[in-house]
Amino acid sequence: MPEKYDFLVLGSGGAGLSYALRVARFGTVAIITKKDSAESNTNYAQGGLASVVASDDRFEDHINDTLIAGAGLCHPDIVELVVRDGPSVIRELLDWGAQFTMKDGKLDLGREGGHSRNRIVHAADRTGKEIEKTLLSAIASHPNIKVFEHHFALELITEHHLGRKVTRYDDDIHCYGAYVFDTRSDKVEPVLAKATLLATGGVGEVYLHSTNPSIATGDGIAMAYRAKARVANMEFTQFHPTTLNVPEANSFLISEAVRGKGGILRDRSGHAFMSDYDERAELAPRDIVARSIDDYLKKSGDESVYLDVTHIDKKILSDSFPHIMETCRSYGVDITREWIPVVPAAHYLCGGVLTDRDGRTTIHGLYCAGEAACTGLHGANRLASNSLLEAMVFSKRAAEKSAEYVRDRNWISGVPDWDDSGTINAEEAILIHHNKQELQQVMWNYVGIVRSNLRLERAFCRTYLLYEETESFYQRTRVSVALCELRNLIVNAYIITRSAMSRKESRGLHYTTDYPRQDKEACRDTII
Ligand code: FAD
Ligand code: SIN
Repeated sequence: MPEKYDFLVLGSGGAGLSYALRVARFGTVAIITKKDSAESNTNYAQGGLASVVASDDRFEDHINDTLIAGAGLCHPDIVELVVRDGPSVIRELLDWGAQFTMKDGKLDLGREGGHSRNRIVHAADRTGKEIEKTLLSAIASHPNIKVFEHHFALELITEHHLGRKVTRYDDDIHCYGAYVFDTRSDKVEPVLAKATLLATGGVGEVYLHSTNPSIATGDGIAMAYRAKARVANMEFTQFHPTTLNVPEANSFLISEAVRGKGGILRDRSGHAFMSDYDERAELAPRDIVARSIDDYLKKSGDESVYLDVTHIDKKILSDSFPHIMETCRSYGVDITREWIPVVPAAHYLCGGVLTDRDGRTTIHGLYCAGEAACTGLHGANRLASNSLLEAMVFSKRAAEKSAEYVRDRNWISGVPDWDDSGTINAEEAILIHHNKQELQQVMWNYVGIVRSNLRLERAFCRTYLLYEETESFYQRTRVSVALCELRNLIVNAYIITRSAMSRKESRGLHYTTDYPRQDKEACRDTII
């Protein structure tokens, strides 16, 4: 007998957990998560959540900053509703028990690039860990919620599994749950649900250098794409300008809040080069800072630029950035005395599964929130600290709509068992590893910060070869997490590259030397 729940949540980051807490009063909830429950991008978030909470801040200013960063592609109605809901989701997090940094009895507000004033609510420099801990502890005591760790969602269950032919032009596809792989018992079982939330996060792992943990393999986006949902704006990958450039540090993030506190970007000789590129210097939006660093590194041939905080009071540094300070020290960099060597790395996906203003995807019964979704908030470039905010606001909206959807609905019957007949255990698992490395290299070299027609075509051809090889391996082999993640990464790489090829202009995070300017005619979402 398949497991049955009212609500199925795929992913246990900020979006999935907050949705689960909200729908649990309407029915039973299963949370499926592929590793330990805290392992998520959310858990590594440093800077915080942007919101208008200061008495002298204005919604209009946050809206305007978001629109400027988004370079003409944000949906203004979505920007407005997210920004205006900010204070209420902050209040909700505080009610759930989150402890944010306070100053003089009020929330302490940090500053990040692209914001016209201080408005980042944070818990020192480990905001995500505080949010994840808060949500997980609220969930632990909830009688209606069951968390399944080390369970990997493989495919969404739709009419396709009931024997009906489903095409990309079909407007009447329903999601009935998901096939889930229990990685400890090595079994695949269908889990049926009346409503399913995709909250599987982003796809940083598609690039060689990324700030994301290894869970970020775009599984939800790939599953939704295979189920024939619409996916949008995948060409807009955000590269974070400053990650620690020392061996073994694995692109550890040096938060934008460090520049917000006065950190200065210098070249090897000490020149503060950002003002050569933009009058906002270190506090220009992230795409501009990342592209300036990339340009500087290419022109100079240097391997790093440097973030200098040695002029900032030590107490301010240790109070505001204890985690960054400690991590840098563990790699031999004392930030109170030395410049921090930094380079850009892939950080955030602005595109994702297309949703409406209530988190509904183009498949009935399938909702999406958080980094896996494309809601229209970010446009061509996300403003710093708007993603945790978006995850919280859209999980709330999706919770409201899916609670209505499950009323009077029943579980589907006749879902077949997972069919792995004719497959074998992989003897050449190393091939999976090689293909992943090759894919990451291709995406880094050809679909990175600066693109061109030639580079994108190269990436497309190489990705197609990897796709064919991996699909044929998948058809012959029993499922494993590594193989399924590789397959999902390839789908994401394909969509990112195809979307980038179709945008014949430079806008926000998508910069191509063949079309270096914005084109008014091309100012629309890329929908696949
Ligand atoms: P995640 O938090 O990534 O959660 C995804 C979940 O899905 C995980 O539990 C994962 O294991 C699970 N999952 C994935 N695939 C499967 C599968 N096939 N089966 C089962 N489970 C699966 N944003 C801000 O707004 N402010 C910040 O300060 C900030 N700092 C950041 C710092 C770092 C280092 C990083 C990496 C990101 C940062 N971001 C920040 C971005 C932000 O953290 C993320 O966009 C946001 O947390 C995404 O939340 P989510 O719930 O959508 O996904
Ligand atoms: C950071 O702290 O620099 C990350 C903020 C973000 O990604 O929004």
